[in-house]
Amino acid sequence: MENRPKIIVTGGAGFIGSHTVIELIEAGYLPIIIDNFSNSQEWIIDRMCILTQSKITYYSVDCKSYETMHELFSGLGDIAGVIHFAAFKSVGESVASPLKYYNNNIISLATILQLVLDFKIPKLVFSSSCTVYGQANQLPVTELTPVKAAESPYGYTKQVGEQMINDTIKEGAVILRYFNPIGAHSSGLIGELPIGKPENLVPYITQTAIGIRKQLQIYGNDYNTSDGTCLRDYIHVVDLAKAHVKALKFLDDNNTTETFNVGTGKGISVLEMVKTFETVNNVKLNYKIVPRREGDIEQIYADTTKANSILKWKAQYGIKEALRDAWNWELNIQQMKLSA
Ligand code: UFG
Repeated sequence: MENRPKIIVTGGAGFIGSHTVIELIEAGYLPIIIDNFSNSQEWIIDRMCILTQSKITYYSVDCKSYETMHELFSGLGDIAGVIHFAAFKSVGESVASPLKYYNNNIISLATILQLVLDFKIPKLVFSSSCTVYGQANQLPVTELTPVKAAESPYGYTKQVGEQMINDTIKEGAVILRYFNPIGAHSSGLIGELPIGKPENLVPYITQTAIGIRKQLQIYGNDYNTSDGTCLRDYIHVVDLAKAHVKALKFLDDNNTTETFNVGTGKGISVLEMVKTFETVNNVKLNYKIVPRREGDIEQIYADTTKANSILKWKAQYGIKEALRDAWNWELNIQQMKLSA
């Protein structure tokens, strides 16, 4: 008889989802993945099984399909919680195809919320983003820092998503505002799998270092920061994954709906990332400074006091570990391609 609490993890084969599933298993939960594999690979689940030495249940289902999801949930018995990762996440693509984002991100969340109500599921954890703050007037940002008008349809889906949860679930939800997730599992077995040319800094760095991309372009060195490049709060994906476990534990004892920043509290420049990558991995990176990228904010980093004190969560890793693990993962993918 299985008595571990069942946690539905939508998007559980994705970057943050897969790392969270590993942490859930280690913490004694029974994760059940629902993923439509639109931006993830089924073989990642095989890797997750190897890593945890366990069988992981997953369903290849689209979260927007209420009927299918309802039938699936009906067959699962008691569900202790839902962690809803499934969403599109590319800022640039959302500007080019806004309806793709509104349709996917909003409808899947509305469906999940309906199911949470239908099945009286006591806990929901939602992936939001520090994008809701835009360029804040004061740094670091706290959860009370005003939300700014969204600069992309992607960002807007996160703001609306937060509102939908606050309107629907008054008792039993945690909204996590992620800062910049990077890195990979230290085993090198799972990590980020960008489709095509990466938009984000770290996969672009690792793909350049391994020779898939010719050169990293650093977007602007004329910002008002210590070295002129933008500052971000880069958080190791394993630390971020652990925050989800802490969120579930928080909801064991609290019937509220709360929002938390999930970052390290440190603002790191793009150049610092590049130099640290070169040093910790002993590789040279071909890069050049180019003009600013449209839509980039100058700097953002988190005040993590609320998560530290209420969730009892704190980031354990820094950029050194994250950049080492990201490189280890890139080498692992390369190895896999060579032996295929
Ligand atoms: N950068 C480069 N060259 C690149 C890629 C990025 O110089 O090839 C720079 C960017 O200009 C920025 C920093 O690296 O200064 C980080 O850029 P990312 O694209 O990795 O991350 P962003 O901060 O732009 O975006 C991330 C998430 C979004 C989220 C946003 C919230 O990808 O989902 O944070 O601020 F909305």
